[in-house]
Amino acid sequence: MPLRELATQRGLWIGPCVASTPLATEPAYAETLRREFNVVTPENDMKWALIHPARGRYDFARADAITGFATANGMAVHGHTLVWHNQNPAWLTSTAWPRDEAITLLREHIAAVAGHYAGTVAAWDVVNEAIANDGSLRQTPWLDWIGPDYLAIAFRAAAEADPQAKLLYNDYGAEAVNAKSDGIYRLLSDLLGAGVPVHGIGFQCHLAIDGLDIARDRASFARNLQRFAALGLELYVTEMDVRLPLPATAGSLAHQAEIYRGVLEACLAQPAFRGFQTWGFTDKYSWIPHRFLGQGAALPLDEHYRPKPAYDALRECLLAPPAAR
Ligand code: XIL
Repeated sequence: MPLRELATQRGLWIGPCVASTPLATEPAYAETLRREFNVVTPENDMKWALIHPARGRYDFARADAITGFATANGMAVHGHTLVWHNQNPAWLTSTAWPRDEAITLLREHIAAVAGHYAGTVAAWDVVNEAIANDGSLRQTPWLDWIGPDYLAIAFRAAAEADPQAKLLYNDYGAEAVNAKSDGIYRLLSDLLGAGVPVHGIGFQCHLAIDGLDIARDRASFARNLQRFAALGLELYVTEMDVRLPLPATAGSLAHQAEIYRGVLEACLAQPAFRGFQTWGFTDKYSWIPHRFLGQGAALPLDEHYRPKPAYDALRECLLAPPAAR
């Protein structure tokens, strides 16, 4: 049974980010997606630089192709992302906007994009990567222009544009209890305390076999999940991949599979866990070899769409009887 059925039976999302070019051109890509997954996230096509290329001009075509594919195949859509410091258009970042104008721009963008996808996007990464490694607010153009309230403004604007969508905060390097996840915890506690509509947290989980050692840090990941759930938030894994030095070996692939297993098992123990997403699904299309030279093979299927040990590990987790909660 494909992962899709196993996850759906448990009421969970499982799925990857999707790139519009292979979706349009490669039948095996689309076939694998619809067989194995029940949710997709556009990898780049909803980011500011692509969807809002000139002030007040929106280009929805590529993202619409992805949401159209999802809807036609009974899959959910996870939107990514409304506020981020990367992949912004030059027209936006080359101006030092006065505060009021920056607030207007942010609200206009969110109203247009989340409004366009209202009823289609079930969850939004409203804010991506707003906390620095030391737990403080990351220096971003939005922080410079608006100040710390840009976060509350963004979540409120998203709730207004799409009252049904789940509104998430998404970040990396915050899987364990550490200075960064402490900072996110403080931020989200404060926002919730002020009545700001935040419904969930996304843990990106861009991991490496020689990085976060899930065997050592698993207890810390579990405690971290627990404290965010205790705030009343839904929990999501949003962008998991586990990079390894190329070429892959039987040993490195087995190690990778155990990291996938460790993350999914820890999540399945949490009643607030809603979705497990990877940043791609086939090693043929992955950001890792471009971003981390000499590394790759980070996803559950190989470049020929064949299952790797990581795929089998995910399948076994989803097949295991639900833990007593
Ligand atoms: C990456 C894409 O995969 C690449 O194609 C693009 O060149 C850069 O961005 N965290 C995120 C994602 O939230 O948006 C990033 O996606 C990967 C890291």
